[in-house]
Amino acid sequence: MLNRKQFLKTGFLGAIPLAGIGCTNVNKFTGSKPVVIATWNTAIKANEAAWKILENEGYALDAVEAGVRVEEDDPMNMSVGYGGRPDREGIVSLDACIMDDKGECGAVVFLQNYKNPISVARKVMEETPHIMLAGKGAQQFAKDQGFEEMDLLTPKAKEAWEKWLENGKYEPEVNIENHDTIGMLALDAEGRLSGACTTSGAAWKMHGRVGDSPLIGAGLFVDPEIGAACATGLGEEVVKTAGSALIVEMMRQGYSPEEACKIAVDRIISRNKRNGTSLKNTQVGYLALNKDGAFGAYSIQEGFTYAVYNADGNRKMDSEFRS
Ligand code: GLY
Repeated sequence: MLNRKQFLKTGFLGAIPLAGIGCTNVNKFTGSKPVVIATWNTAIKANEAAWKILENEGYALDAVEAGVRVEEDDPMNMSVGYGGRPDREGIVSLDACIMDDKGECGAVVFLQNYKNPISVARKVMEETPHIMLAGKGAQQFAKDQGFEEMDLLTPKAKEAWEKWLENGKYEPEVNIENHDTIGMLALDAEGRLSGACTTSGAAWKMHGRVGDSPLIGAGLFVDPEIGAACATGLGEEVVKTAGSALIVEMMRQGYSPEEACKIAVDRIISRNKRNGTSLKNTQVGYLALNKDGAFGAYSIQEGFTYAVYNADGNRKMDSEFRS
């Protein structure tokens, strides 16, 4: 008698919906290594930077850090790093976390005036006995580590904020400019898994608000023996359902990456249904990568895209979605 995991490994489930989750896409993307995947199809450039490391048999952790830094540095990306949209008081604050193949992790939240929170998060992981630094403490640490202080509010982001102030209404926007947080997951040639997640958070958020992206288990989770997952979209929904940790646990139970992402999306939907709250203006998208290099994605609504780079090249993908 095959147990569930052995049964899935046989691959005959390609055409058979698994009980209770109604998914017919089992094993849609088979595994290979190295591989890198990242949220939103704008991550093509970020994937290039990660791939340069991965194709030279480099370390997955270096790949995800280098990859997401491309977006942190890009002032045209208004949801991550330099050029990110500010909070309702006109202040840009950044959140990020990183997790490696040993299950070590580091995070910074509410970081101001430093454009690469992912690298500060890695320093927290490697140079301190802690996993998370916040606000002024994170800033002091970044300074002590030699990061360069700068103003993160670009003229474009300031103009957008001034326009928003005309009405000053806070409403989440679905697929905002078609990208928000960048979450990136990589498996290197040696089979080491790592992940990174970085954001300027929800535009026009309350001063001090922190979302899912820097929270291990919510915006990102890596279990070196199973797989990794990351999230984008409205962070509050991801935190309430421990999205990325849930996905990794579902992969542990034998679900494919896409099925695991779908289960996490369904968890958000059922929670809101129970409470009579609407998800009409809410997007959450998940990515997952297992330790064999198979990957998948799922979102609440249409429009969540992602980018994958493996032996088949660097390409844009559309996620499956729920409604
Ligand atoms: N997912 C980004 C945030 O909600 O802050």
